[in-house]
Amino acid sequence: MSIDANIIEEIEEANKIEHVVMEYLPNLRHIGNNWRAVCPFHDDKNPSFIVNSEKGIFKCFGCNVSGNVFNFIMLINNVSWIEAVKILAAKCGIHLNGYSHSKYFIKKDMILQILEEASSYYHNFLLNKTTYEAILALKYLYTRGIDDKIIKEFKIGFCNSDKYFLRKKLLTHGYSLYDLQISGVIGKLYENTYFEYMTNRLVFPIVNIHGQVIAFGGRALNDEMLAKYINTPETIVYSKSKNLYGLFQSLPSISKKRTIIIVEGYIDVLALHQSQICNTVAVLGSTFTKEYAKLIARYAHNVILMFDPDHAGEQTTQRALENLIHLGIMCRVVQLPNKMDADEYIIRYGKCKFINIIKTLSMSPIDFMIRKLSNNVNQEAMLPEVKALIIDKLLYFIANINNIIIRMEWIKYIAHYFNLNEQIILSEFFNITHINQRNRKQKILYRDVKVKKMSIEEILLEFILQNRDYIHKINTDIFENKQCKKVIGFLKKGLTDKVILNSLIEKKEKTWFVSLILSSVKYSDINKTFITILQDLKKNKIKQRINFLSKKISLMTKIPKDKETLKEYMSLLNILKNSGNQNNEYNNKI
Ligand code: CTP
Ligand code: MN
Repeated sequence: MSIDANIIEEIEEANKIEHVVMEYLPNLRHIGNNWRAVCPFHDDKNPSFIVNSEKGIFKCFGCNVSGNVFNFIMLINNVSWIEAVKILAAKCGIHLNGYSHSKYFIKKDMILQILEEASSYYHNFLLNKTTYEAILALKYLYTRGIDDKIIKEFKIGFCNSDKYFLRKKLLTHGYSLYDLQISGVIGKLYENTYFEYMTNRLVFPIVNIHGQVIAFGGRALNDEMLAKYINTPETIVYSKSKNLYGLFQSLPSISKKRTIIIVEGYIDVLALHQSQICNTVAVLGSTFTKEYAKLIARYAHNVILMFDPDHAGEQTTQRALENLIHLGIMCRVVQLPNKMDADEYIIRYGKCKFINIIKTLSMSPIDFMIRKLSNNVNQEAMLPEVKALIIDKLLYFIANINNIIIRMEWIKYIAHYFNLNEQIILSEFFNITHINQRNRKQKILYRDVKVKKMSIEEILLEFILQNRDYIHKINTDIFENKQCKKVIGFLKKGLTDKVILNSLIEKKEKTWFVSLILSSVKYSDINKTFITILQDLKKNKIKQRINFLSKKISLMTKIPKDKETLKEYMSLLNILKNSGNQNNEYNNKI
């Protein structure tokens, strides 16, 4: 079914983009040629969301979403294009033949209903021991120490090898394949060919804080299957970074203890709940997001992080600490001995020893960071340069803490650990944070709409697009980004925006260029801004080189093998640290 292009155009014309956006974002303000608001699609502090009424498009300079009025409705309501067309058609009273009234508002309920039904089928299939496979699955859970009470509480299920397990039941209840697909229980391989995610797996339903099923995780029970775990995809009702496995079941215990234990896997959660350690949850993705930290802060003051002691686990732990500490949550890190995960440990040693090990083995965040960064090398055996590098990294980590008392305590701790004067560490801390602040201050000059995802090269290009005379002051070679280089080449030839836009063929490139020319930044001191941007560009290159060298240095042992690397590293660090002063080496290099 397709809607006539003329009708689409009519709907678009009848729904002025700024009017539609304003319904959702009442703070939309008219500034210059554009409208501007705080972006609803990311954690925006400055208004980075621009609407251009003349061109009928929107664009966020923070998270880079862009499009026309239909795309806006799709994103803000989480609906398909066709639903967006329907919503806007209804608004202006245009009748769409063949399309029923917008179903958006009942869609979410329908998805939850499908997931609930699916979950019940899986669960009953397991508990009723419906097939030989189900009996084996149940036995498997018992051998892992999980009993019926936990199986029921977490509504664990099983999906056997019947590839049409869900479809057979749910399609007869009036749901379409599309309904099942948007619920995440089936996936589309190609036209008219679908697969069920949970086939032949033990099923762990993921529920939200209201206890509603929103997704599934499935574990293979034999080694022949390709992936040990498969999870259903993100949907309207499920976002990995906003939910934690086991949180709903843990809420009563968490509200008593105000402490959450965070582990890596489903089975870890189940095993700990089985042992009456009921304040345990697991992350659902490999990155520990800010959203997780916010979610946790709603329920707990203390967190115990218990990720696997491998590289990935340590990275997740660091991210978790940074985000949690920033919100003032007290954290401890536990790394279990002999590379055991929480499940293995509690099964082998029981609840008492588990609780005991949390008490005796848990580390403070700073201890964890020291251990992680020093790769088990004793501080006395470290090269001074390596020590300096580690201390800088620790100080950057500490800069996450808002509480000045804790910050000071950790600075003392670092001084003590590395056997250095506290004042030295403190001055290095101020040095580092001061550099950051200075950078920030300089950037404010041109950072009105500058955002995380825009590189300095792009900012320079955007600046030149607005101040064409400056094209003669720069050399094409300072750009590394191919797209920027290309546009600078066009500008040097004197081409106009329109001609450049037409000569960019790829859609992505076009969108990117539109966003640059749409910018409405006004600089108070154009010349100074130009110099600051150029300086930042240079500084970035130095930082990249420093990063590269620091990785090289951290692999060195006590006997310096490569003095040249150390020399270059130290001199670049100095250049960077002095980059705010006038007439220094850094400025001379520009
Ligand atoms: N995981 C995943 N996809 C994979 C592997 C793992 O989503 N291919 C996630 C699952 O949430 C899993 C967690 O990472 O629970 C930890 O994985 P792993 O340590 O491999 O499994 P365990 O939970 O320890 O499971 P088991 O003890 O049954 O091996
Ligand atoms: Mn395990």
